[in-house]
Amino acid sequence: MSTENRILSAVAANVSPSPTLAVDSKAKALKAAGEDVCGFGSGEPDFDTPEFIKEACAKALAEGQTKYIPAAGLPALREALASKYVSENGITGLEPVNVVVSPGGKYSCFLAIQATCGPGDEVIIPAPYWVSYPEMAKLAGAEPKVIFAGDEQGFKITAGQLREAITDRSRMLILNSPSNPTGAIYDREEMEAIMEVVLEHGLYVMSDEIYEYLLYDDVTHHSPASFSAEAADKVITVAGFSKTYSMTGWRLGTLVASAPVAKAVASIQSQTTSNATTFAQYGALAALERSDDAMAAVAEMLTHFDRRRLFLLDSLNAIDGVSCPRAQGAFYLFPNVSSFGIGTDDLADRLLDDHKVAVVPGSGFGAEGYIRLSYATSDEVIEKGVARFQEFCANL
Ligand SMILES: Cc1ncc(COP(=O)(O)O)c(C=O)c1O
Repeated sequence: MSTENRILSAVAANVSPSPTLAVDSKAKALKAAGEDVCGFGSGEPDFDTPEFIKEACAKALAEGQTKYIPAAGLPALREALASKYVSENGITGLEPVNVVVSPGGKYSCFLAIQATCGPGDEVIIPAPYWVSYPEMAKLAGAEPKVIFAGDEQGFKITAGQLREAITDRSRMLILNSPSNPTGAIYDREEMEAIMEVVLEHGLYVMSDEIYEYLLYDDVTHHSPASFSAEAADKVITVAGFSKTYSMTGWRLGTLVASAPVAKAVASIQSQTTSNATTFAQYGALAALERSDDAMAAVAEMLTHFDRRRLFLLDSLNAIDGVSCPRAQGAFYLFPNVSSFGIGTDDLADRLLDDHKVAVVPGSGFGAEGYIRLSYATSDEVIEKGVARFQEFCANL
């Protein structure tokens, strides 16, 4: 064991840093040094938080909402979230006790896994996956078990693949629809087939629905917890305010689960972070209470995302050797660049160093041969960046 490993816990020695944040930091450092970088790395909307949400937060701050509140969240916000999940997502029988507000969707995922998985358990993770899932499974002492679904199957696992992957040690399946990094969305039939296998084997599901409102081409989002009472008992639905309302820096996540799981999650949170920032939760409450205004802001953001998505999709597919599926959710495209025959870590490094274009290599998403481009950036950056990428590919 190296000296470094000896000074760390086994868990810390085993965890990797986030590759998406690493690309973003490198691109930001180059920009700060005066370089003209076209960044496709960032996973955050390039719009400001809607004004009325900021005002509600500022009002709470001015009124002295600066103290501890219950660890599981502001009671009114938990109540509003329970109502939202009943009326919009169709999950029945929810009460505020089923809801936890956390410091970020990322922490909600961490808590969901911590509360239900441990040493000896396997967490089934469909790849391409969001970079943090395998690391979070490892942080809980569990073992990630990856099932791969490439572009030829729309980046979606089948019920048959899931059945084959299940062992005596399987404990949880992670679903993420719409997906980061692929933008893929499971339709109802596909998800029901998966849930049938899940329930047959008594697995938990962590359904990460953080991109639930970022949909294109008239597709519909489905929450697996809404399929039956049995499903509601086994599915832990995680989400947050970051992506929908451009609130990435606010650090507010949500979690909805059966009462015993939600209670355990709240206990872990109470012993680790306590409540998410009090006055920030008032801003989130305004987003739910004034849902018409919030959805108008989301619709406006979506018109920009959709235009950029289609432009980037066409531009990428026009490049010899690049093949990009039509993603219908989130704000990412995940083209296949395997025909160039070079590793995507290397490709992304060269693209950033020589052409000042930041993309995230597929390796971090468990999908070598692909790269992720976020179109949550301006039209100008997209046009300039894709032209540089085209030039780069022509010289490969
Ligand atoms: C799939 C997915 N889940 C969860 C998160 C966490 O978001 P946040 O912690 O900002 O709420 C992200 C952010 O990139 C994500 O892409």
